[in-house]
Amino acid sequence: MDYKLIFAEELEKNTSLSKADILNLIEVPPQEEMGDFAFPCFKFAKEMKKSPILIANDIKEKITSEFFEKAEANGPYINVFIKKEILIKNTIEEILSQKERYGNSELGKGKNIPMDFSSPNIARPFHVGHLSTTVLGAALYRIFKSQGYNPIAINHLGDWGTQFGKLIYAYNHWVDEDALNENPIKELLRIYIKYHKEAEDDPSLDNEARKHFKNLEDGNEHETMLWKKFTELSIIEFEKVYDRIGVKFDYYTGESFYYDKMDTTIKELDEKGLLTESQGAIVVNLEEYNMPPCIIKKADGATIYATRDLTAAEYRYNQFHFYKSLYVVALDQSLHFKQVFKVLELLGHEWAKDCIHVGFGLVKYAGRKFSTRQGEVVSLEELFNDSVKRANKIIEGKNPNLENKSEVAEKVGVGSIIFTFLKNNREKDIIIDWEEMLSPDGETGPYVQYTYARFNSILKKTDEVKQDVDYNLLSTNDEYQLVKTLSNFNKVLNEAIDRFEPFVITRYAIDVAKKFNKFYNSCPILTSEENLKNARLILAKAANQVLKNALGMIGVEVVPEM
Ligand code: ARG
Repeated sequence: MDYKLIFAEELEKNTSLSKADILNLIEVPPQEEMGDFAFPCFKFAKEMKKSPILIANDIKEKITSEFFEKAEANGPYINVFIKKEILIKNTIEEILSQKERYGNSELGKGKNIPMDFSSPNIARPFHVGHLSTTVLGAALYRIFKSQGYNPIAINHLGDWGTQFGKLIYAYNHWVDEDALNENPIKELLRIYIKYHKEAEDDPSLDNEARKHFKNLEDGNEHETMLWKKFTELSIIEFEKVYDRIGVKFDYYTGESFYYDKMDTTIKELDEKGLLTESQGAIVVNLEEYNMPPCIIKKADGATIYATRDLTAAEYRYNQFHFYKSLYVVALDQSLHFKQVFKVLELLGHEWAKDCIHVGFGLVKYAGRKFSTRQGEVVSLEELFNDSVKRANKIIEGKNPNLENKSEVAEKVGVGSIIFTFLKNNREKDIIIDWEEMLSPDGETGPYVQYTYARFNSILKKTDEVKQDVDYNLLSTNDEYQLVKTLSNFNKVLNEAIDRFEPFVITRYAIDVAKKFNKFYNSCPILTSEENLKNARLILAKAANQVLKNALGMIGVEVVPEM
């Protein structure tokens, strides 16, 4: 039920403004005692030749909808109060009838949103920074989908570039096949690092590597076979992570996908007179926009990361006629995306304004002084396993007889990491702090999961809850506050969309859990008189549904018991 809309419709009947204008003007008062919505009357003062205070007084008399308990004039504002019983009844009934679809809408119907996220590099470790983009991108994907948009998950793998020439040289000379089978990325990284050491002493290696990359570009058999092998081995490793956190892609179109499509972009740049030469390289000069030049071709004729991004952007537009095109990539690539988007604009693509870099900060470990940028590699598998082990210990202490203990520990351990990654504004650095992350009392994944599990156990123990409920019995403030928060889920999802910020949902889940626990502590359920007990059980059931939906949006699974 959209109470704001109902208020707007009432105002529309009594003012000269359009519904859309009114909706834009309606505010939420700073304090709860002031009502649920407020409408400022300044706008009419002039045309009605009356003070806004008098206007507010007049109009408030005409707000007669049965959904509002009262309308008050508060200075130049009209404040309305939603009728509590109606809000409670409608919200709970809506949740229980819509279930996992509660919060969804069709707002974004027909709008395509390619989302470039995760995008790790072949033959390189999938590090914690890639975990950030993966969980952020996957959460945004689900959130957009919930509002009817058509998100498209694209894994823009780093699978092209001169580094593959180096890797092929290294493979030919130093690979240990057993080690490669055992742990492909580790071995590929080892020989790649070795290459760099050796090339320092013997620069002729770089010529060899360049030849290999040229052969790869020309489609030679040996190089192509190796490149495919590196790619396949790496993707198998990446998919272990994706499977564990439930992430899927619609397309695995990495940088190599654009290899034979770049010429068109370069020709276009040339025709628009955008290309200049600089120290042998071909670039788009961006001095006018206070940016370094965007390199299109290096002095040796090789295209680079930016060239491929330009082509990829055009390809995505031609393919999807997107509403927005998102790039969930670390903030340290901000300049790169500014340059790419600017060049797209200079090419005359009016859709360049719809390309959005959704940036994020670094990952740090509490008590340790390094970040991903300094190159230290922590295997994600280790990170997950560590968390699951700790979760197991906690569960063992709390509930040693729990069935499916290891399954629960997996969901709690992995969930707590995802929760931590999505808990704050994405531009803030993420701190991995085990004590804090897994604490069942803090603002954590386990806290929310535990809240869900507790009520789930209660609901399991009770007989069938009667659907025929006297909602008037839910009369305490804690009950009302919980319902009011539940009624906001759709609004919160749309706020996350407007800001490209899944943390808004994470915070919301914490808020629901807190109010849920407050309600539980102040309102006895099982010991209450039959009708009241039933009403409270229904409320708990609805709250659990919303907790499950909200956690699902960010990619954290609930557990039935904990
Ligand atoms: N492979 C890059 C990296 O690991 C990220 C690619 C992001 N997407 C893009 N279209 N540039 O840093």
